[in-house]
Amino acid sequence: MTALKLSDEIEQKIAELWPRFPEDKVRKVLCLPVLYMASQQFGRVDEEVIRLVAERLELPPAHVRGVATFYTMIETGEVGEFHLQICTNIGCMLEGAYDVLGRCKKRLGIEKNHGTSADGKITVSEVECLAACGYGPVAQIAQKGKPDIPLYFEKLDEKRIDAIVDALLEGRVPVELGV
Ligand code: FES
Repeated sequence: MTALKLSDEIEQKIAELWPRFPEDKVRKVLCLPVLYMASQQFGRVDEEVIRLVAERLELPPAHVRGVATFYTMIETGEVGEFHLQICTNIGCMLEGAYDVLGRCKKRLGIEKNHGTSADGKITVSEVECLAACGYGPVAQIAQKGKPDIPLYFEKLDEKRIDAIVDALLEGRVPVELGV
């Protein structure tokens, strides 16, 4: 039994969603939204949060862990205030995604994938297709505690990623550059 507790807002949302699904399916259906809300509440989904969600939804922890680790929007590791995810899948790669990713990591002094800037504020990850292949290179930004973000940032080049990094370093998501 974990000492963590889901917020009243999450409990309210569960109560609202639960009756909409068949009793034998509802636990699995709610797994992803509850994980996402829990990641917003706790900042990431570590083993303790996985246990909490599993207990709350009466699911095996292995099932919850499988869902949590499949989706890149569910943070399972340490992340900064901002998480910049850059797609390097084939469509974006052909449009220069690795130049954009390299520029971004260089600006922030980040060497490894899923690395965080020295001040702990910005995490950069290389991710698979973000489903906007015609507008690559594409990135999305998540901000802790702001479920209305991520925004998409399309047609990136070194100039545009510089502007995005500048804004993040100022402590804000450059919504004016997103779609
Ligand atoms: S290949 Fe980058 S969004 Fe699909």
